[in-house]
Amino acid sequence: MNNRALINRYVITLLFFVISAVVIVVTSLKRTKASYPEKFGIGRAASAAEISALDIDVRPDGKGLPVGSGDIAAGKLIYNTKCLACHGDGKKTEVKLPGEPLFVDYAEFKNNTAGQKADQSPKTIGTYWPYATTIFDYVRRAMPYNAPGSLSNQEVYHLTAYLLYRNHIISSGTVITEKSLPKIVMPAKEKYVEDDREGGTALK
Ligand code: HEC
Repeated sequence: MNNRALINRYVITLLFFVISAVVIVVTSLKRTKASYPEKFGIGRAASAAEISALDIDVRPDGKGLPVGSGDIAAGKLIYNTKCLACHGDGKKTEVKLPGEPLFVDYAEFKNNTAGQKADQSPKTIGTYWPYATTIFDYVRRAMPYNAPGSLSNQEVYHLTAYLLYRNHIISSGTVITEKSLPKIVMPAKEKYVEDDREGGTALK
């Protein structure tokens, strides 16, 4: 093979690679476009009912509370059946499963008399929670621990009334509603301060 023929061969081979490279790039570009369609054809739009089943948050101002009312006596029955085993009955010593006390019996718990500083008392709904509406939100979404989400709105209203009563926040006979619950001012509200720091020298 003479030199010229050899060069021709190289040129042809080179051309072959260049053309192949161009073809690969062009087809892969095309493929990239084709492999990301606007819709993948899977799933479907969630229905309003499905969204509202998950959209259960209740805000401090009561936004999100369902219409309803809660009664202390009815709440006591539910509490004793579904909550007492873990949260107890406010006694200083009692045998129970793990779950912090939600209220304490003031007569027995001398350290927790009304007016005592929160850090000297067990942290309960009465001494630590800034909003009453959070009881409804938390209990509905997270309790009972072994079956969260199993309580009806009605049961949660009754339980909220009972827990407020056992924390000496509402008196016996009070019925709470979606209108009155957000208006309850919790004893611990004043213990929280608004974090209005802006950074820099304003940082407290
Ligand atoms: C099987 C045990 C168990 C049962 C039953 C149970 N809880 Fe709880 N509860 C817990 C545990 C454990 C926690 C702490 C959860 C955490 O911090 O994540 C808790 C936390 C709570 C809190 C928050 C307490 C706080 O100050 O942070 C509330 C309120 C509450 N439970 C209410 C209830 C109510 C009302 C019921 C009955 C419907 C109930 N629980 C049933 C175990 C239980």
